[in-house]
Amino acid sequence: MRIKYLSHFVITVFGIFAVLFSTAQNRSISQKADSVCKLMTLEEKIGQMNQYNDDWNATGPLTLDNDKAGQIQLGQVGSMLNCVGTARTRKWQEIAMRSRLKIPLLFGQDVVHGFKTTFPIPLAEACSWDMDAIRLSARIAATEASAAGIHWTFAPMVDIARDPRWGRVMEGAGEDPFLGSAIAAARVKGFQGEGLGKLNAVMACVKHFAAYGAAIGGRDYNSVDMSNRLLWEVYLPPFKAAAAAGAATFMNSFNDLNGVPATGNRYLQRDILKGKWGFKGFVVSDWGSIGEMINHGNVKNEYEAALSAITAGCDMDMESRNYKHTLVQLVKDKKVPMALIDEAVKRILQKKFEMGLFDDPYRFCDAARETKELNDPAHATIARQIAAKSIVLLKNENMPGQTNPILPLSKQTHSIAFIGPLVKALKQNKGFWDVEVPGVDSNFIVSQWEGVKNKLGADTKLLYAKGCDIEGDNKDGFAEAVAVAQQADVVILSIGERRDMSGEAKSRSNINIPGVQEDLLKVLLATGKPVVVLINAGRPLVFNYTADHAPAIMYTWWLGSEAGNAIADVLFGDVNPSAKLPISFPRNEGQIPIYYSHFNTGRPATSDTNRNYNSSYNDLSIFPKYEFGFGLSYTKFEYSHLQLSSKKMKASDQLELSFELTNTGKMVGDEVVQLYLRDRVGSICRPVSELKGFDKIKLNPGETRTIRFTLTKELLSFYNDQLNWVAEPGEFELMIGASSRDIRLKDQFELIK
Ligand code: BGC
Repeated sequence: MRIKYLSHFVITVFGIFAVLFSTAQNRSISQKADSVCKLMTLEEKIGQMNQYNDDWNATGPLTLDNDKAGQIQLGQVGSMLNCVGTARTRKWQEIAMRSRLKIPLLFGQDVVHGFKTTFPIPLAEACSWDMDAIRLSARIAATEASAAGIHWTFAPMVDIARDPRWGRVMEGAGEDPFLGSAIAAARVKGFQGEGLGKLNAVMACVKHFAAYGAAIGGRDYNSVDMSNRLLWEVYLPPFKAAAAAGAATFMNSFNDLNGVPATGNRYLQRDILKGKWGFKGFVVSDWGSIGEMINHGNVKNEYEAALSAITAGCDMDMESRNYKHTLVQLVKDKKVPMALIDEAVKRILQKKFEMGLFDDPYRFCDAARETKELNDPAHATIARQIAAKSIVLLKNENMPGQTNPILPLSKQTHSIAFIGPLVKALKQNKGFWDVEVPGVDSNFIVSQWEGVKNKLGADTKLLYAKGCDIEGDNKDGFAEAVAVAQQADVVILSIGERRDMSGEAKSRSNINIPGVQEDLLKVLLATGKPVVVLINAGRPLVFNYTADHAPAIMYTWWLGSEAGNAIADVLFGDVNPSAKLPISFPRNEGQIPIYYSHFNTGRPATSDTNRNYNSSYNDLSIFPKYEFGFGLSYTKFEYSHLQLSSKKMKASDQLELSFELTNTGKMVGDEVVQLYLRDRVGSICRPVSELKGFDKIKLNPGETRTIRFTLTKELLSFYNDQLNWVAEPGEFELMIGASSRDIRLKDQFELIK
């Protein structure tokens, strides 16, 4: 026995040594992964495919397990999530280093919109239409997270979402595949920086593959039923763009797609992702989603669930333990060929090699670097800038008798009443999916009160009243709020959602501004004072009273740790708002799903006045309250002189278009110019308009710039009924707009053979 044990030990150590130290710069990472895989027992291989949560922060049913350390030491765990901080990750990694093959653990975490420095929620950030800013926020998040021991973020979430009842709408980039694809790529590049292996790069995990955002009724985890055409045309493009941007990993999803759970969906994972798209990274399940296939009614038990998932291409099991419980037996029963296990294991090992963890398993556990990066003041400055870019100005009117709109406010205003349940809130500003970083005060946030106060000199009186709570029907605070408003020249009212009203498992059937907050606005407006409303939320809310009666509205979403400063920057005009909505805002829940790129139908409705046997509601407008692409500025932009290089374009050619944009107002400002196309006749009906280009242009007052776009066959293509990507000859309408409805310039051209 002893001799056998010894010889096994020598062979193992020799093998690992050979793999790691064979000065194998010239050996590819895939060869290295191969060699390690050859040394592994089946149990150890399955261990690599197994991911455990640390002891806290569960986002799903948690398996209580007091023996994680023992299992890690036996090589039965390949990755962990929710271990944050170098001290904690070092502790677990040390245990992994006591295992036979010393294969390092991968530490994953939902770093969704920042780490210690919290950036705006992703949907808010998408309003910036600023790819550099979005990339930079992911870059900083990765810098901080990697310094705190994290190797892997479960982001970006690239699910297209057209239903604001779904709480996870906050995590994505909105309703549009073109904008969503650009943002998906920017986020992946931001997280992965100059490439895996750099100390400040974390692996991206693109989620949730696929179509999770189309959960029926907006109810989280619900089924998705859609045509393949819709899947390919709308829901898959951001995933494809993220894969093309080099995303290291993908996560599958909780939903079933047309009756097949995404986790066990071979078409999605093996045929499309790993097949057609040639994805070389690995796929992790969502939390417990392998086991949940039993509830879906698609498999009978854990054994069948694991078989389905691994066959479909799911490489790692997050927290369901199904792989751990059944894969050995599945291999013994010859249901799962060893080649399938090896493929999954090698994909995982390769990433560990790429991250440099085999060279030094503790390279992300440097406490000094952690302190430095988590306290870099530059991060807050950038978070403030990005937060200001995410604020959407929805309304800005003159008060009666005044010649200027209410906003921006003057810093010399004599007295300001700052009212509402969110004025002094701290953590609320972070929004869902903030990260609790050990040792960091979770109130590390600039409140809205503080931000506004910082802007004002001693001559301005800043008054406060809470007015009411976010929820509930208590109006006891109204009288005080009115009294405070009456003493002020202007009122700022901060209302909206609690930070955990949008997010995972936060679907709502009623998306009106909660509680009596709009009633509070009513009594404040009755004072006759100008009222600026700030709406803080994780989703498009319904707020018709506010929209119709408040003279000025800023949609501030959840802006993160610098919320207060960013809001004040925009309120007082140090930053000119430039954000545009990446998602339609419905008038009420009855319009959902609502999106700008719908088909025309056989009986299109074009106005709310004619409802005669056309595709409209009898009791509700067909138009959203605020449309995709909408957002105001403190300045005005004029669009003119649209020119096309030709009215005909061959598929092999391209068409150049240009127009002039002028800042006709008095402030420097940025305009997001949007290019939409409509394919007039298609073998499959085409949407009334589709975003096919955008640019964000900064102009000084009076300045004019010529803006150019190039149209290629690619932009004119769509999936036909064979799911082939084709551009069909015919007429196209071209629209240049300041939003999807505010079209300023139009022309048409023909695609010829
Ligand atoms: C969510 C994922 C998340 C995972 C780990 C799940 O409940 O759906 O998006 O990455 O938990 O926290």
